[in-house]
Amino acid sequence: MKKTVMTLAQKKAQQEKSSMLTAYDYTTAKLMDDAGIDALLVGDSLGMVMLGYEDTLQVTMEDMIHHSKAVRRGAKKALVVTDLPFLSYHVSVEQAVLNAGRLVKEGQAEAVKLEGGVAFAEVIAAIVRAQIPVMGHIGLTPQSVNAFGGFKIQGKTLAAARQIVADAFAVEAAGAFAVVLEGIPGDLADYITQRLSIPTIGIGAGNKTDGQVLVYQDALGMYGDLQPKFVKRFGEAGTLYKAAFTTYQEEITTGAFPSDAHTFPIDQKIIEILKQEER
Ligand code: KIV
Repeated sequence: MKKTVMTLAQKKAQQEKSSMLTAYDYTTAKLMDDAGIDALLVGDSLGMVMLGYEDTLQVTMEDMIHHSKAVRRGAKKALVVTDLPFLSYHVSVEQAVLNAGRLVKEGQAEAVKLEGGVAFAEVIAAIVRAQIPVMGHIGLTPQSVNAFGGFKIQGKTLAAARQIVADAFAVEAAGAFAVVLEGIPGDLADYITQRLSIPTIGIGAGNKTDGQVLVYQDALGMYGDLQPKFVKRFGEAGTLYKAAFTTYQEEITTGAFPSDAHTFPIDQKIIEILKQEER
């Protein structure tokens, strides 16, 4: 059955956990879909893990649309949520709605995600009014990396925790269908999760949230540039890829690949005739 924004709400109501992973291409999206992952996030983290930037700030609307379309083609059942990139929703409410609409119309997204709480409540409400489901994202919001002075855990002081709680309530009141809680203490995420009616999806926020999301290259040990403490490796795809690439390199060098098994045969008489015609 196709999963929708309602699926996450129903799961929260039934005290079931929702699963989400980032996805950026057709093949990986299809594998995740087949594995039964509830929601695929076309995250602007693609700037780092797919494009090699140091942070997410250079990611464009065109980048997001390109990857979102590919993921949607692979996701037959999973809900596809696509990130609004940095500065695509900050300048005006009108521009935010238009860009959210582009992610749906051109990128085939079923919902959009944007970073920010109280300060972006008006933007969330306007996008929701345009009938586009919005997932909020608060706490350690990566687009604020320069304002935070690095990728630092948020909400550790009373004032900071109060602000994050206020952000969570503002996102919910604005009409978001779910909210990502990133890089905050587990007990604070638990406190928020118990008080919100919409599902919380945690990343680096402990195990009391209604669901979890990870960047899949982190979860599969494929991306070594940053290794946050909250990441668990569910596989060693990085090691697997490297070993396979090394063997490929060796077999090309030695001529072991391609073997007869990987080569198309032809009637030898044809080759003989070609050789005779040369003379
Ligand atoms: O861009 C992304 O991958 C995200 C997740 C870290 C939640 O926003």
